[in-house]
Amino acid sequence: MTGEKIIIAIDGHSSCGKSTMAKSLAKILGYIYIDSGAMYRAVTLNALRNGWVNNGKPEIDKIVSGLKNIKITFIWDKSTEKNTTYLNGENVEEEIRKPEVSQNVSPISTIAEVRREMVKQQRENGLKKGIVMDGRDIGTVVFPKAELKIFMTALPEIRAQRRFLELSENGLDVSFAEILKNVKERDEIDSTRAISPLKKAEDALVLDNSNLSREEQFKWTLKKIEEIINKNES
Ligand code: DC
Repeated sequence: MTGEKIIIAIDGHSSCGKSTMAKSLAKILGYIYIDSGAMYRAVTLNALRNGWVNNGKPEIDKIVSGLKNIKITFIWDKSTEKNTTYLNGENVEEEIRKPEVSQNVSPISTIAEVRREMVKQQRENGLKKGIVMDGRDIGTVVFPKAELKIFMTALPEIRAQRRFLELSENGLDVSFAEILKNVKERDEIDSTRAISPLKKAEDALVLDNSNLSREEQFKWTLKKIEEIINKNES
């Protein structure tokens, strides 16, 4: 697809396939892909490693002052078609997906200073457009003027099942019940937090994929992109 580059913001609940969709779009359009959730996960991993989370309670001052010492970058590996997250030059892609990080990331992502710093870095990546970013507040806060905003969702049970399969395939010993609990807890925290809660931007298109295949969702989204690009050109 040729034409003017746009910004694509994909928000939605956890484990509803935002990253898969965003990666596929970035690939076909030749755009940059940024997984904003991975950035909050990297901050969480850094906090856990330093012992700044006690019984699920983050030590806010330490986490905030530690922000200046961390650099989060992404490298797109063409051969594996995977996006890899680096924390201070270390590949942490696998570690940030582990249950311990998933269980602690939502409270850490409610810290105002953490959000301010992540949003600043996210916006820097979008200066030249030609970007697909997924997260919770991309269409509402990070890029409120994004040309295409999609709000993805699916039933919690379906999302938990997808996560369960993904983690099991990666050899992690996890229970479905635990994952479902975590999915629901994260929905609750993400949607009710005071700063930048997960909510649909007014002009976002809703994509409920409970009963849709990846191909169907992808086709639907590409059609929307085509319409926007054609409209911008006419
Ligand atoms: O997309 P994910 O599940 O990897 O995101 C991990 C957590 O990070 C999620 O519980 C909420 C938080 N997050 C956020 O607050 N804002 C974003 N833009 C992306 C993720």
